[in-house]
Amino acid sequence: MELVQNLKAKVKPLGKKIVLPEYEDARVLEATALILKEGFATPVLVGNPEDVKALAQKEGFNIDGAEIINPETYDRLPEMIDVFVEKRAKKGMTPEKAKATMLGDCLFFGAMLVHLGVVDGMVAGSASPTANVLRAALQVVGTKPGLKTVSSSMFVFTDKKQYGDEGMLVFSDCGVIPNPSSEQLADIAMSSVEKARKVGNMANPRVSFLSFSTKGSASSPEVDKVVAAVELLKERNVDFDFDGELQLDASIEPSVAERKAPGSKVAGQANILIFPDLQAANIGYKLVQRFAGATALGPLIQGLAAPIHDLSRGCFATDIVDVVAIAAAESAE
Ligand code: ACO
Repeated sequence: MELVQNLKAKVKPLGKKIVLPEYEDARVLEATALILKEGFATPVLVGNPEDVKALAQKEGFNIDGAEIINPETYDRLPEMIDVFVEKRAKKGMTPEKAKATMLGDCLFFGAMLVHLGVVDGMVAGSASPTANVLRAALQVVGTKPGLKTVSSSMFVFTDKKQYGDEGMLVFSDCGVIPNPSSEQLADIAMSSVEKARKVGNMANPRVSFLSFSTKGSASSPEVDKVVAAVELLKERNVDFDFDGELQLDASIEPSVAERKAPGSKVAGQANILIFPDLQAANIGYKLVQRFAGATALGPLIQGLAAPIHDLSRGCFATDIVDVVAIAAAESAE
């Protein structure tokens, strides 16, 4: 994918380190070998070095050059425990529980490496459910200052070049918040714009808040939620165009936009689509994939204080490599 190749070239001189905490998954070792070969970042693995190297050898992957951190002997483990206890004090975290978590859950250990700045980002989830990766990220790294919401974006590439930016659109949130509030929808829009700019190099983000109604053509509490999100965003003085509520066709098709939302700066040319909830978003991107042969990159987590990304458990090693490039690029900004 051209977008990812550009990101790799951009980050190569920067020497970014990305932790891949699930070394027991052979795809992680394969991805490590591929990243080292391409040389655009340094992969950091978590585990006993002897075990990691033995498995890599057995699987036939050359991981010479990867950093390996053994939680059991790591000299910053006491600091990690203290930080985690402090962060989770209100939730009853004790030093004993914190130690057990850091030693027993590689996702939390990896997230703590990110939090302490030992590495620049984390990519995980090939061997863990999304919710586990998100929980480690939320509890250790937390949200970006000034933002309350962690969500995700999906980059969708179609050969219908008349839509979005030459066929590229961002769909949000396809992966995290089941039923976002109006405030969360506004947060999702802001994070999606940032993601589109940083990762997709999108120069003119135009955000459409999707609904089954366009500009009051239908009324229901579901529509009201979307309208309220648009009103909230108006109060935030953002530096991008947005509009809603808009139906999908009015969002991307100029002829429909002219009839249904005349005068809108976004209708007919939206390149970022904010879906009203996770069901619609998740179903929506899969429809485009299956019926229109679109390719999708993501969901890419957004709104965290540092780049942490989740993988599908069905991913290929090359998907891991691509997401590492994205995490490295995001940490560079
Ligand atoms: N944004 C910001 N903060 C959040 C969010 C969020 N989206 N979600 C939870 N938090 C907060 C919680 O309020 C909690 O705060 P606190 O510790 O101060 O009380 C903290 O983060 C930790 O949350 P947990 O209680 O550990 O996690 P929770 O049970 O709330 O679950 C999760 C969060 C894992 C994100 C859940 O909402 C979830 O499972 N979402 C769906 C994920 C999923 O399965 N997606 C489908 C993927 S399909 C695909 O990817 C294609």
